[in-house]
Parts: sequence; structure tokens; C-alpha cells
Amino acid sequence: MTTAAIIGGGVIGGGWAARFLLNGWNVRVFDPDPEADAKLAPVLAQARRALPSLTDVALPPEGVLTFHNDMAEAVSGVDWIQESVPERLEIKHAVLASVQAHCPPDAIIGSSTSGFKPSELQRGAARPGQIMVCHPFNPVYLMPLIEVVPSPQTDLALVEKAEGILRTLGHFPLRVRKEIDAHIADRFLEAVWREALWLVKDGVATTEEIDEAIRMGFGIRWAQMGLFDTYRTAGGEAGMRHFMAQFGPALKWPWTKLMDVPEFTDELVDLIAGQSDAQSGHMSISQMLAARDDNLVGMMRALKANNWGAGAVMNAHEAALREGTVLGAHADDLEDVSAPILTVRRAVPLDWTDYNGHMNEARYLQAFGDATDRFMALIGCDAEYIATGGSYFTAETHIRHVDEALAGATIEVRTQVLVGAGKKLHLFHEMFEGDRLLATGEHFLLHVSLETRRPSEPSPAIVTALDRIAAAHADLPMPEGAGRAVGQRP
Ligand SMILES: NC(=O)c1ccc[n+]([C@@H]2O[C@H](COP(=O)([O-])OP(=O)(O)OC[C@H]3O[C@@H](n4cnc5c(N)ncnc54)[C@H](O)[C@@H]3O)[C@@H](O)[C@H]2O)c1
Repeated sequence: MTTAAIIGGGVIGGGWAARFLLNGWNVRVFDPDPEADAKLAPVLAQARRALPSLTDVALPPEGVLTFHNDMAEAVSGVDWIQESVPERLEIKHAVLASVQAHCPPDAIIGSSTSGFKPSELQRGAARPGQIMVCHPFNPVYLMPLIEVVPSPQTDLALVEKAEGILRTLGHFPLRVRKEIDAHIADRFLEAVWREALWLVKDGVATTEEIDEAIRMGFGIRWAQMGLFDTYRTAGGEAGMRHFMAQFGPALKWPWTKLMDVPEFTDELVDLIAGQSDAQSGHMSISQMLAARDDNLVGMMRALKANNWGAGAVMNAHEAALREGTVLGAHADDLEDVSAPILTVRRAVPLDWTDYNGHMNEARYLQAFGDATDRFMALIGCDAEYIATGGSYFTAETHIRHVDEALAGATIEVRTQVLVGAGKKLHLFHEMFEGDRLLATGEHFLLHVSLETRRPSEPSPAIVTALDRIAAAHADLPMPEGAGRAVGQRP
């Protein structure tokens, strides 16, 4: 089992701890604060609520979380050490020295620093090659980006290993090719923050108006295409060259305050804090955090459906989670197909619940639809086969809602073949949370030619795989509820 040591368990360390833990790593937290475990608990609760929503496959079982006051105990034998102590160089140096005195020489030491260069962190270090910046974004358990910044002294093989591990956690490692104060993203955000402060100070806009200008417009654009691709599309068919010819010269106009920073006087602080209270003081911070996570999950799941940006990262993570499990297998890989087959194992995501607080009935159909898709892939009717012109179309569906499922619940669907012969495929899905039956879904499908849109025979390979499962399932008892008419009770 892989183990991570989290040094400093505040906002960021807590997010890292959650990300590792929920991806099956054991996590040791080292933080001198006697309240360290109490501080971590709410972050972990938020992560448990939101992170499993990102993929349509369940995460592995959680690792074990422990708290330590002794550095040797915290870092001995670990694979990854993530330093997230306060942003003061002398504290970071002392902590890194203590870490290196006790950790394996080939462990990865990542620093969460927002501002320092890795060469600054490495100054005086016993083994500088082990140290790199791995700069995350809050909330670390949801945001994919990690800026990975090596210095010329960092061992590049270790950097590559770190990037591979980050991918297995669902992160997107972005290698920063040249170390620089504040890396890439915070440099950019600094400029935005500076302009926003001027706009408030000069009375041009309130904090709320600035936030509306972002979230009603370019903020949504940036989340899916960033800056340059957004401008490229704004240039029309002529693309980036046209855009630059048109708007490049505008940068010389006196729009921007450039490098000037407004003085942080009491007056400015009062102005901004007062406006912020007026804007959002009606909500508690924990209410805002829950809304933030719901929104982030919803937006990222929309990108996932388009396999785009952060959503493409989630799909890659999900493919890795399926690999080597029954959820990624072909029927030929399964020795025993005599029992109903696992076709879905996932968390109920935050955006699947309704006003009653439980999974919306449309999502039961979605889960059963996913189970059918998975069954089709299992017998060889996968994307590649569908591209050759054959597929199954659903002709009839019957769902029975037996019990509730809440957001975050891990649900499983097991699929029994009632008929699998020629063009016909009749499936019976049962959805469980643990041992509790939540619903059943019965689907009747016909194999069709995508050219004629008429029923057609499946390929011989599909027939063989389906025949085998259908023959094995022929010995199973008819499931309770199969073929039931609407409204019938047992
Ligand atoms: N807050 C953000 O949005 C953000 C984003 C990315 C990176 N970062 C970086 O992450 C780091 C931590 O920031 P944070 O916001 O989590 O701060 P924080 O104040 O919330 O947490 C710091 C934690 O470190 C602990 N600590 C203090 N001295 C320690 C020591 N000697 N050994 C172990 N633990 C110690 C504290 O008890 C506290 O729990 C900083 O380097 C910061 O630049 C912050």
C-alpha cells in the first residue's frame, strides 16, 4: 500500500490528505497544532461528499489516516511527502531539513508553495534532487491542476515519477519549464487581483460587480478554453493572427494600471471587506464552500461529457480506475460468468439528486443505461465495433424504484441476461447500495445496422460472447419482478 506524509494539515495540506486518502493511499499527517485532526475533519467531510462525484466509476477503498507528532514516524518509508506549511522560507527550510533527515532518499518531496522557487527551497538541503514544487489549487481534492516545478538540481526521473502518481490521483500535472516566483497561474491571478483592487479603490466597481463581470462572462469561457483558445475563436476563421492584429495594439491604451499596486490602507481594506460582507454576508463560509463544490462538480461533469479540458482529465482517471477490473474487461477475460455481472460501481454524484435530497428517477435510468452500455462493451459491442456500423437500440424499459439513494452513496448494478439470442438482448439489472436493493431495471434491446437503422444480426464475435453468458444465466432463477406490469405489487 502506498503512503503519503502530509506536513502541515491546514487548508491545503488537508486537501492533499483527502485527495490521497480517497484514492486509496495511506496518509500520515504531521502538524504541531493540537487541533490538527479537528481541523482536517471538515475538509475530509467536504472531500468525501464531492470528490467521488467526479468519475462514473467508484474510487478505490479509502486508505488509513493517522496523525503524528514525530517526524521520523511520519515520513519513514513513505512514497510521497507533501509540504504545506505556512509560506515562510525559514519555516519551509527547517521542515525540509527535518523531513530529509528521516525520509527515504528516493521519496518524492513536493512543496505546495505558492511563491517560492524550488531552488530557494533546496538551499542548504541534504538532497536537493528530491525536492520539487507541486503547487495545487484550492480545493485540492477537486481541482485537477498541479504546477510541477523542478529546479535544475531536481532529479528529472523523480519529477516524471511524481507526474505519473499525480495522474493516478486524477490530477493534471503541468510542468513549469522555467522556475519563476509564483509559477504560472498565480502570476496571472496576481495581475487580475491587482486590477480588481484598483477598480474597487477608484470606485469604478464594487466587489460584487467585479465578481458578476467574471462569473457571468469570461469566467465561464476561461474554464473551458483558457485564454489563448478563447481569443483564437474570437478571431473568426482567420484565428489568432487576426485577433492579434485587431486587439494587440489596444494593450498600449491606458486601460491597465500595469505594475502599480494600490496601497493597502485601512480605508481600502474596510471598503473591500464591507463590500464583501454586503455581497455574501448572508451566507456562512461552510454554505459557500458547499455551493462552490456543487458548482465545480457540475461544471467539471459537463466538461467530462464533452471529454474536454478538466473533463478529459476525469475521463483518463476513470479509464485507469476501470483498468484491470471487471468494469474494464471483455467477457473472454472473465473465467466465471455464471452470476449476474457487475456493470456499474460508482458514487451517486452531487448533481444526481433532486429536491427530495435523493437520486432523481431520471438518474436511475441513466445508471441502468450505463449498465447496459457496459454490458454491450463486455460482449464486444464497444466504440470500435459501433464505428463499424452495428449497435444495440433499446426498445423497452421498465424500472422499479424500491429504495432511496443519497448523494455520495456507492451503488452497484448487477446484470442478468434473460434473453440473448440473435438480434434480441433482454437484460435485467439490479441496483444495490451494499446489500440494500434500490431498484431494478429491465431493458429489451435489438441489434441494429446503423446504416439501415433496421434490426440486423450482431457480429459472430458478439454472438459467441453473448451465447456464453446467456447459457450460463439460463440456470439462474427468474429474478423477482422481471416481466412485472406497472403497478403490480408482490
Ligand atoms: N490557501 C491557498 O489557497 C493556497 C493555494 C496553493 C498553495 N498554497 C500554499 O500552501 C501552503 C500552506 O498554505 P495553507 O493555506 O494551507 O496555510 P494554513 O495556515 O491553512 O496551514 C498551514 C498549516 O501548517 C501547520 N504548521 C505550521 N508550522 C508547521 C511545522 N513546522 N510543521 C508542520 N506543520 C506546521 C499549521 O499548524 C497549519 O495547520 C503555503 O505554502 C501556501 O503558499 C496555499
